[in-house]
Amino acid sequence: MTAVLRAEGVSRSVGPLPIVVDVSLEVAASEWVSLVGPSGCGKTTLLMLLGLLDTPDRGSVWLDGEAVAGWSAAARARARLSRIGFVFQTQNLFDHLSARDNVALPAWRACGSRPEALRAADALLERFGLTHRAATRADRLSTGEAQRTAIARALVNRPKLVFADEPTGSLDSANTALVLDALAEVTAGGAALLVATHDAGVAARGRPLMMKDGRLAEPTRGAP
Ligand SMILES: Nc1ncnc2c1ncn2[C@@H]1O[C@H](COP(=O)(O)OP(=O)(O)O)[C@@H](O)[C@H]1O
Ligand SMILES: [Mg+2]
Repeated sequence: MTAVLRAEGVSRSVGPLPIVVDVSLEVAASEWVSLVGPSGCGKTTLLMLLGLLDTPDRGSVWLDGEAVAGWSAAARARARLSRIGFVFQTQNLFDHLSARDNVALPAWRACGSRPEALRAADALLERFGLTHRAATRADRLSTGEAQRTAIARALVNRPKLVFADEPTGSLDSANTALVLDALAEVTAGGAALLVATHDAGVAARGRPLMMKDGRLAEPTRGAP
């Protein structure tokens, strides 16, 4: 089966400094892969490269078997909107918008219909136990609610590939459990999930890939 995400020899330097070095990996549909390593090892930089937010200096990335190397900026933006979901490390909801509008916004952009986008948002908020917070401004949500809202937003266009960068980094154990359940729903729905984390408990939920000094340490091919 074609991997949802494949990378071969991906490298990225900042000036003379190598940040990501010769990374090859595959993530299959319904698979949870955990990118594990200490702070500063290059996890965020790698997710940006794989999520089409940055371009490697060397190496190639394929989405569903399609090489992204030749894509225009517009094609990359389209793929980020409709094929990829991203849960960022730092809170990046629109503070002045409600939870519901934050979740609906990418769907509205993709499908052009606000009512349809709001229906999709409501369904996700309900799935994540957030219906009672739907009308709440994002800056009034608790950290755990905001993170689940961010996951709902990442899923609203039904992407086949989802990235999450330290999704539980700032949460207590109760909220961590809720966010992990929400992430498990991502793969249960058939999407591929790549989670960067330095939390061993989070890492254990998926197939771990160990990262150190910009490199993956383990054999990295294929599903377990
Ligand atoms: N734009 C940049 N300019 C300079 N250094 C950077 C830049 N982006 C990342 N780095 C450095 O690259 C290393 C890896 O960073 P990062 O990918 O954020 O690691 P992680 O997410 O694993 O903590 C760090 O040493 C960081 O300081
Ligand atoms: Mg990081």
